Amino acid sequence: MHKEEYRFSFEVYHSSNDLLPADANLLEQARAVTNIAYAPYSHFSVGAAALLANGEIVKGTNQENASYPVGICAERALLSAIGTLYPNIPIQTMAISYHNFNQNTNSTHPISPCGMCRQALLEYEGRVQQPVKLILSGLEGEVVIVPQSNLLLPLSFKGEHLKK
Ligand code: THU
Repeated sequence: MHKEEYRFSFEVYHSSNDLLPADANLLEQARAVTNIAYAPYSHFSVGAAALLANGEIVKGTNQENASYPVGICAERALLSAIGTLYPNIPIQTMAISYHNFNQNTNSTHPISPCGMCRQALLEYEGRVQQPVKLILSGLEGEVVIVPQSNLLLPLSFKGEHLKK
């Protein structure tokens, strides 16, 4: 028997003012798009914006449903849109923000993608052979940058495991 250890590093910024202009711009777009999320059940609106290798920016929001499990997270809604609009174009960066309407104040702490979205991000990275940098933040305050989304899913299950 031996033990293995998993570690990864990420960056924490005091606010979006400390980001590179392109990152600050993408985060601003993710924050803005929280306003058009469809989240009548959770009142938790998530916005995501992706900068593609071809320079395009595509946005996504969570889309809920009266049959709750039918709803989809902003990140996977965005990945589906990108996979359809720009198949096989790498995603350089994805910014994710949210507004929790259950609270009276603006969100000030980053959230990170749920497990299902981590799996979907991993598949996209594998498909285009390029990592996705994540920018995570509320509507204001601290910003976390994860250099590649696969770092959030160690010991992951991949397509190669299905091969004969
Ligand atoms: N949600 C996202 O869109 N992204 C996340 O990273 C976490 C959760 C959505 C799903 C659901 O519509 C609402 O937020 C509450 O879970």
